[in-house]
Amino acid sequence: MILGILKEMGNENRVAILPPEVIVLKNMGIDVLVENNAGERAFASDSVYMNAGARLAERKDVISEAEMLLSINPPVDEDITSFKEGQVLCSVLNPVVNSNWLEKARLQGLSVLALDLIPRTTRAQSMDILSSMATVSGYKAVLEAASLLPRFFPMFMSAAGTIKPSHVLILGAGVAGLQAIAIARKLGAVVEVFDVRSAVKEEVKSLGGKFIEVEGAKEDAASGGYAVEQTEEFRRKQLDLIQERAIASDVVIATAQIPGRKAPVLLLKETVYSMKPGSVIIDLAASTGGNCELTENGRNLVINGVHIIGKSDYPSDMPSDASKMFGCNIINLLKIMVDKDAKLSLNLKDDIIYGTTAVHGKEYVSQSVKQLLNLK
Ligand code: NAI
Repeated sequence: MILGILKEMGNENRVAILPPEVIVLKNMGIDVLVENNAGERAFASDSVYMNAGARLAERKDVISEAEMLLSINPPVDEDITSFKEGQVLCSVLNPVVNSNWLEKARLQGLSVLALDLIPRTTRAQSMDILSSMATVSGYKAVLEAASLLPRFFPMFMSAAGTIKPSHVLILGAGVAGLQAIAIARKLGAVVEVFDVRSAVKEEVKSLGGKFIEVEGAKEDAASGGYAVEQTEEFRRKQLDLIQERAIASDVVIATAQIPGRKAPVLLLKETVYSMKPGSVIIDLAASTGGNCELTENGRNLVINGVHIIGKSDYPSDMPSDASKMFGCNIINLLKIMVDKDAKLSLNLKDDIIYGTTAVHGKEYVSQSVKQLLNLK
């Protein structure tokens, strides 16, 4: 199989495959064709790719020669017409946001694998790109908060007196939230956590966080472990308690999301106005609307002395390790997609391939995509 690695567009610094992962792919018998300068912003030069065994080419040649094309973000609209029927594209698709793109790809007969739809099952754990990137986000969010905060995170006992530790409030204990708890605790902060899934209570405690429970959360076994929308009564109770804890906190790391929906609003405008000046809110849910009512995606605001950082693309700020984790996840996915002669086969009977394939043979395939796009 010829695997094409496309250079990312816009502000994206990551690349889907770094040179060490090219070596692994070559050992699997895969021919790796990399677009010129694809790894430049992740500190991987063309010559290092060549030494690892990759071939380098112009974008148009990578697109015309590769059987399977890989990029982190979906290729731009203008690329779609250059793709050939039957070609396989693999990206983090965000099907709801890119539904028009996906429809064009379907009509053109492309097979599109949405890496954000890889099932969250034990067998697929080593391919779970969402978890890898959320790990980076949780880590970076805490570091950014610590550097903006005009206070120490840990307690200090010095000749100048005792400095109390900072209080960090984490909204949502998914992968990013759990990582944020671990890092904030390592830096010595006191950590409190909200989530609607009671299953995370023990994990939060084991990381040294205090789980704040709001009675009456709605959970749905059919949601695949994800959160579901809550009742109005629960929301009111939760908002009151969050307001109380946010006012007592120095930092809020907001990570709460519901797949395919707008993020729940958990920090109201009046809560921000009641927080201590100098406090920091990092809103990782910014790209899906934000957990804070005042968040603006991609912007750093200071409102009433409170920093509100609306940022969902931290992985791009740590391109070396984020790209490495991405590439390792992809290699694990490819292990179930190529046979021993390195021939590509899209076996839709495999639950991971089926769940990840958004479109194939001019049809929508994955049940998750159909649900997200409200198709029957
Ligand atoms: P996510 O990014 O979808 O959401 C982050 C967190 O926000 C979740 O814990 C969610 O419960 C919480 N949340 C949503 N609405 C909320 C609200 N109104 N108030 C407070 N918290 C709220 O989550 P992520 O990190 O993608 O994880 C989702 C699920 O996938 C989890 O159950 C996780 O355990 C599971 N998972 C399973 C894996 C596996 O088995 N291979 C790997 C990674 C995650």
